[in-house]
Amino acid sequence: MTAQILDGRTLSTSLREYLRRDTAELAAKHGRAPGLAVILVGEDPASQIYVRNKKKACVDVGIESDAFSQTLPAEISQQHLLGLIAELNADPKVDGILVQMPVPEHIDPEAIIEAIDPGKDVDGFHPYNIGRLTARMPALRSCTPFGCMKLLEQTGIDLHGQEAVIVGASNIVGRPMTMELLLAGATVTVAHKFTRNLQQHIERADIVVAAAGKPGLVKGKWIKPGAIVIDVGINRMDNGKLTGDVEFDKAAERAAWITPVPGGVGPMTITMLLTNTVQAFREHLGDTCE
Ligand code: GUN
Repeated sequence: MTAQILDGRTLSTSLREYLRRDTAELAAKHGRAPGLAVILVGEDPASQIYVRNKKKACVDVGIESDAFSQTLPAEISQQHLLGLIAELNADPKVDGILVQMPVPEHIDPEAIIEAIDPGKDVDGFHPYNIGRLTARMPALRSCTPFGCMKLLEQTGIDLHGQEAVIVGASNIVGRPMTMELLLAGATVTVAHKFTRNLQQHIERADIVVAAAGKPGLVKGKWIKPGAIVIDVGINRMDNGKLTGDVEFDKAAERAAWITPVPGGVGPMTITMLLTNTVQAFREHLGDTCE
């Protein structure tokens, strides 16, 4: 079997086209564009690239970001950052607030996430939004798992009763992904750093979601023939190339569907951030009919 590619770039392009039209229509009707504040603390080079890409994507679909975004020095105090978040929470022109992670060590990321108004938490990281998803009442959904669900939708396969194995139990991906797949009716196993026999779990999975951040952790020969493989890993190798957590070539010989790295989950994460910002905008305007 040679897998079909789950192409996140193509799907992102069509979703962003739709968002562009939606945003223009809403802005004309309500007299303002959606606003997203992107806050970067410090000069982490990878974070700088992510933030630049997020702001560029905002411009592309008509979301105002530059007017509200800030880059703060790494030495900024937690209190100062909390003060800025309080201002953005109170600003009626700001629909979404995103603080790029990781933050410097002297700042508690949980305190920052919890300080953001859950209605503006377009990352979907706030315990309120995670709780809503867990209780089957999703509000703003974590962007990467939400993007993975959109990619799974592309396969046309009914997820009810499918055996899904998620590798990695992070707050950003593994945990909300567990809740997304459970909500979709899959039978979900979460493997993590204490899991004893990863191979045994992967071998029986109809759906594999690899989100451990370890290049090549999931061996191609473990993949069940006909499985769907979603690779969330984005690892930069010594030669500068990006690679996922799954041995792509060997896995593609066995899987029915597979995401490439780059060009799979990555573009979808930003697209779902834009989707969440427009959703928050609609809710702030009281204009929730699609
Ligand atoms: N750091 C890595 N991924 C993300 C993300 O999706 N959102 C934020 N805010 N920080 C991140």
